[in-house]
Amino acid sequence: MLMGGLRRLEYRGYDSAGVAVVGDDGTIATRKRAGKLKVLANDLTEAPLPGGSTGIGHTRWATHGGPTDANAHPHLGDDGRLALIHNGIIENFAELKAELVESGAEFHSETDTEVAALLIGREYRETGDLAEAFQRVVNRLHGAFTLLAVHQDAPDVVVGARRNSPLVIGLGDGENFLGSDVAAFVEYTRRAMEIGQDQIVTIRPDSIVVTDFAGEPVENREFEVAWDASASDKGGWSSFMAKEITESPDAVANTIRGRVSDGAVDLSEIARIDEVLGDVDRILILGCGTAYYSGMLGKYAIEKWAGIPVDVELSHEFRYREPVLSSRTLVISVSQSGETMDTLMAVKYAQERGATTLSVCNTQGATIARESDAALFTHAGPEVAVASTKAFVAQVTALYLIALRLAAVRGTQSTEALAELVDELQAVPTKLSQVIESSGQIAELARGMSDTRSVLFLGRHVGYPIALEGALKLKEIAYIHAEGFAAGELKHGPISLIEPGQRVIVVVPSPRAVDSLHKKVVSNIQEIRARGAYVIAIAEAGDAAVLPFADDVIRIPLAGGMFEPLLAVAPLQIFAMELAAAKGLDVDQPRNLAKSVTVE
Ligand code: M6R
Repeated sequence: MLMGGLRRLEYRGYDSAGVAVVGDDGTIATRKRAGKLKVLANDLTEAPLPGGSTGIGHTRWATHGGPTDANAHPHLGDDGRLALIHNGIIENFAELKAELVESGAEFHSETDTEVAALLIGREYRETGDLAEAFQRVVNRLHGAFTLLAVHQDAPDVVVGARRNSPLVIGLGDGENFLGSDVAAFVEYTRRAMEIGQDQIVTIRPDSIVVTDFAGEPVENREFEVAWDASASDKGGWSSFMAKEITESPDAVANTIRGRVSDGAVDLSEIARIDEVLGDVDRILILGCGTAYYSGMLGKYAIEKWAGIPVDVELSHEFRYREPVLSSRTLVISVSQSGETMDTLMAVKYAQERGATTLSVCNTQGATIARESDAALFTHAGPEVAVASTKAFVAQVTALYLIALRLAAVRGTQSTEALAELVDELQAVPTKLSQVIESSGQIAELARGMSDTRSVLFLGRHVGYPIALEGALKLKEIAYIHAEGFAAGELKHGPISLIEPGQRVIVVVPSPRAVDSLHKKVVSNIQEIRARGAYVIAIAEAGDAAVLPFADDVIRIPLAGGMFEPLLAVAPLQIFAMELAAAKGLDVDQPRNLAKSVTVE
């Protein structure tokens, strides 16, 4: 059961893994191994742990101390009777460690986590109660943490605590679960419960008690997981990434479903935000990586359709520069996982300064969604591959819905114009399916480029975030140097990079797009072609102007200018995936990365 849960959570970190089981024989047994989960699984097959019905398991993304057996979790208390796992960073671990060393403690790892194991183990010896031992320790810890522990003297109990890191409860029948996300237990139950900030949870097979850090009981919201275990299975696909790209049209359709009727967008599910939309005078969109690029598209849409100034910022840059916010600022955070620590901290910072916060999130029960004033969920389903694909198009869809709603509330578009835009958005899933189904050409091109050392991506207007996203995908999973540029910026410096044979992928705007944008991009292509670049153009069906200047043309169906990015991104995702696969790389779990970045 533990290994099954870890398999579903492995995308969150895969440097090392470990389990601890309170055995039916009244002892605690642990096993932990550096490397991917399969290393631990093989080890356990060869030498199984004693049976038991209470246990904890962990997959790690190393922060303090390299990915070794010793640094893998669980860590033990100093009498070896308590085992503990941790997600996050204990920022004051050095002081706590010095104090423990002073009192004679021995450390067996370089992690920050071990101090918590030792401290809670010691407090248990004093109190004989695991939850009370947690209460005594958690307030001494600075930073972010989810901690879970089992003790061999309390064989049917798991205690957990969380501050700024994720933890959810799975409500079973005669059994209960804790997990960093619902994927850990969805095979056994779809009934789940959130755990709030600074809370301690004690689960037994037939009871759940949640308190705050002072031990006062608290009540939390229960929810039903919207998908079942099969949604997070790879099925017959070669990779989760391949499966998830194919699910993109559904991700868009499901994100629209129930939110439009009669050509108008209805966001009554976020009534609290909907009420203030008319009053907002500025919007700030926050996100990291792919979520940030979706935010850039959100900016283009909101400014174009609703006429409100929008800034987009990387979450981790935002709060360190004393940004100006007011009660009329709407802060929209974008996060697939809803757990990205950089974004969570930025949202909290914005709230403290009086802004209204709206989370665009793909994960039920996630911290950012809970902490925000309202959440608009993207219904992309679970995304397991580290490279974000279907979540991206779902995020853009959600931001477009917000833009259209803003336009309606503020009267910046006529009812007819809005209905046309809604129609175009609703047409995206079918067109996106066509793009994905006819991806053989881009896949073949990618497979022929496995020795390529550098690829540049160019785009303008809404093609620019797509160029950035295409470059991120290639770096992330194929380990190839890639950079995205605004095509107009090339002549200001980067054109020096062009030498004969340099691969350049250009996202070409529709000939019907903003003013003369198409002509300008075609000129940009000629400029790089004249310097020897090998050009792959992503262009609208029927666009003949690119033909004389591109070495290869990948066609996408006609879509209104703002909707083109939702189609143009798929070939770039497929390009990166096929190139990584051709290099023999693990497409789903690229080196050094984790799906959910819960440290700053
Ligand atoms: O869960 P989030 O959307 O907050 O994650 C943000 C980024 O870490 C994420 O998009 C990352 O850039 C992806 N691995 C890109 O494919």
